[in-house]
Amino acid sequence: MNVLLTGGLGYIGSHTCVELLNAGHQAVIADNLCNAYGSVLDYIEQITGKRPIFYECDVQDRDAMERVFTENKIDAVIHFAGLKAVGESCRIPLAYYRNNLDSTLTLLETMERHGCKRLVFSSSATVYGPDNPVPYREDMPCHVATSPYGWTKAMIEQIIRDYVSANPDFSAVLLRYFNPVGAHESGLIGDDPNGVPNNLMPYIARVAGRQLEKLTVFGDDYDTPDGTCLRDYLHVVDLAKGHICALDYAAERTGVDAINLGTGNGVSVLELLHTFIRVNGVDVPYVIGGRRDGDLARCYANAEKAERVLHWKTEKTVEDMCRDSWNFIVKHSK
Ligand code: NAD
Ligand code: UD1
Repeated sequence: MNVLLTGGLGYIGSHTCVELLNAGHQAVIADNLCNAYGSVLDYIEQITGKRPIFYECDVQDRDAMERVFTENKIDAVIHFAGLKAVGESCRIPLAYYRNNLDSTLTLLETMERHGCKRLVFSSSATVYGPDNPVPYREDMPCHVATSPYGWTKAMIEQIIRDYVSANPDFSAVLLRYFNPVGAHESGLIGDDPNGVPNNLMPYIARVAGRQLEKLTVFGDDYDTPDGTCLRDYLHVVDLAKGHICALDYAAERTGVDAINLGTGNGVSVLELLHTFIRVNGVDVPYVIGGRRDGDLARCYANAEKAERVLHWKTEKTVEDMCRDSWNFIVKHSK
């Protein structure tokens, strides 16, 4: 299958590209490099022995997308491209709405002109909002997002649902990711955020690497076993493989379906931190600080649907996630 990956040089897109190529598919990437490096293409080639076709372009750019679809016969699209930082989305909401919504609209219009009818979309557990009880199930109502970023995911899910209603021969899978962490075992690709990371695992890894002084644990007075928040961390390589299963699922059917990609387990901040310290034999200084605005005590998936319909479940452990995140930092900072 010839698959277009929008945002394919980013963290999740690059790992998915590796799995796609390893599974014998062809990959075309469209990425404007607003949060990625061109060198990731070389790393993908180093890992797989194959080089994807690459367009440095904005998915909002109609002419550029027309060229991508004219020059390649695209069988299916995985739409990763988007801005993803929750805090930043509160500061510059219009940029988030413009980028995330426009890129999706331009993509769908181009797919329509070219008769491409298969889409996998990168949604997020954030669509469950603050009011649903854990574990989150796909049939729960998703009406209240808590940030402009979250609203873009909820809105795009709705745009895709409306498009599929009007085009019943179209097939779309909305993948709701939980907390992807870890890196490819080669250490060549991984999560490489610009500036000071907002997310826990890259922050821990940079403290361990002495690039940051100490971790602040945001609150230990939650109603959880050790007082710190529970999240559903999953290894990015497991997540990447979920996309191949979703492409197969989309090929078998029409309509739209939302599916959680998570482990189904809640792991606390302190558990993740102490696992990282133990498996890597490193020191990670930390202090307990106040709660971070907007954090929920618990966020984890009911992961049964993915197993039932995609025949996918996570295989890697929290130890694997910690080891591979550290390996990436060690190899990357050389
Ligand atoms: P990322 O920032 O590493 O990758 C996104 C890629 O899209 C980047 O390479 C960026 O350069 C590109 N991009 C952004 N806007 C673009 C545009 N208009 N045109 C072309 N390229 C564009 O992020 P990621 O972690 O790989 O996330 C991929 C997708 O998964 C995003 O949609 C994100 O919202 C979603 N998601 C991520 C997480 C997570 O924890 N990483 C969780 C849930 C959902
Ligand atoms: C955040 C986003 C979510 C997004 C996800 C993955 C928010 C409110 N939510 O989720 O939409 O899908 O990232 O990109 O931002 N923590 C610390 N110290 C730190 C950093 C984090 O204690 O320096 C804690 C947090 O309080 C949280 C846990 O670690 O309990 C995980 O945080 P993070 O990695 O930012 O992910 P989420 O908040 O779950």
